[in-house]
Amino acid sequence: MRKTMEGFLSYSICFCVLFSAVVAKCDYPEANLLKFLLDDYEKSVRPVPKDGNATVVSMGFSLNHIDDYDSDSMDLKSNAWLSLKWNDPRLTWNKDGGPFGNVKALHLPPSDIWVPDVVLLNGLQPFQPQFPDRLTALVKDTGDIYLITPSALETRCIPDKADGDKATCRFKFMSWTYDGGEVELDLGFGGLSFSEYKPTPGLTILGNSSNINSRFYDCCPEPYYDIEFSINIEHNDKDK
Ligand SMILES: *[C@@H]1O[C@H](CO)[C@@H](O)[C@H](O)[C@H]1NC(C)=O
Ligand SMILES: *[C@@H]1O[C@H](CO)[C@@H](O)[C@H](O)[C@H]1NC(C)=O
Repeated sequence: MRKTMEGFLSYSICFCVLFSAVVAKCDYPEANLLKFLLDDYEKSVRPVPKDGNATVVSMGFSLNHIDDYDSDSMDLKSNAWLSLKWNDPRLTWNKDGGPFGNVKALHLPPSDIWVPDVVLLNGLQPFQPQFPDRLTALVKDTGDIYLITPSALETRCIPDKADGDKATCRFKFMSWTYDGGEVELDLGFGGLSFSEYKPTPGLTILGNSSNINSRFYDCCPEPYYDIEFSINIEHNDKDK
């Protein structure tokens, strides 16, 4: 059962009148809001809209740096921001006045809310958030949630058959357990971006692409989606 705003208001007014002399809790609209949003929140279930549509998770992948490329093993160590955006209708509020002051956004630890289980499928290592203890999700009053994870990634590239100095390096992401009827991935949060990219001497990015693939497995009637970001690189260490 969902708490109504009225119920919350009377609760919070009573609470404030009775206890304001003792506790100064009412002075913290963000804390009130947090309690209002999360008290009955089930973070294990996805924010399924009433019409049963899939939760749309929009992705961005900002490749910032190639830390290391081994031209023998073709292992690529890179640094990127993985950006995810979705909407959780349970995390909405009226930002104009009321018990929550004018709070427009909250910054919550991802572990407090439902977060899509997007994984790097072709990682040699799981992708490592650079500062896991400091990560917060930005939650807006509309229920839009933005989670940007700076990560270290390790993947393996595929050599170009015609030219050994060239290779294609893919970063493949998917929701680990949700099928396409539950979580739908798209490129709506920036897609593949190089706006923060710092070049590495001896490595040139020749091209790039982003693809959304769907695939059916024996288990299930719904397709599973994955998103593949690719870069074509050329390695040139003649001047080393
Ligand atoms: C749910 O999906 C249907 C069919 O794709 C679409 O017409 C409708 O607008 C969707 N509803 C919401 C709330 O997005
Ligand atoms: C990525 O691809 C787009 C579209 O083809 C192109 O405009 C852009 O310059 C490419 N960026 C890099 C770093 O190769």
